[in-house]
Amino acid sequence: MGQCQCGNSAESKEKYFAPLMKILEGYEKKEKDLIPVLQKAQDEYGYLPQDVIKEIANQLNLSFSQVYGVVTFYSQFHLEPRGENIIRVCMGTACHVRGAGEVLDKITEELGVDDGETTEDLKFTLESVACIGACGLAPVIMINDDTHGRLGADDIPEILAQYKE
Ligand code: FES
Repeated sequence: MGQCQCGNSAESKEKYFAPLMKILEGYEKKEKDLIPVLQKAQDEYGYLPQDVIKEIANQLNLSFSQVYGVVTFYSQFHLEPRGENIIRVCMGTACHVRGAGEVLDKITEELGVDDGETTEDLKFTLESVACIGACGLAPVIMINDDTHGRLGADDIPEILAQYKE
């Protein structure tokens, strides 16, 4: 287990967990509250750091492994920090046959991250996904809520530049 990310002093620990305590105030702290508490904690911290998972387990009287099991079961929960911009590259069949692989390779090359990773400056998280229902525009990527379709690898630098500021 890694070092506590909340800092060592009791004061900084208290500060770090204050938003979580505030969230917990709205619940009975029963097992049934676990998912909504995890969702709100993730909204607050941007992801679910190990110390936050531990504290939630404590507060809800559950074991760390019970809570960790739930976090890893649902894809909506993240154990690592996420980028400010989430890039989803469709790898569904229509996109795949129209060159989604090259588009993904170009993004990987431009950002220096692989599928599932986040850039060091926390600007971008890259994810490949299954069909996003815009096959007519294949190959398609989504950046946050924006859809970019009929792409070639050459279009990528210009598109990414729009999100870099
Ligand atoms: S396969 Fe990519 S949008 Fe459907």
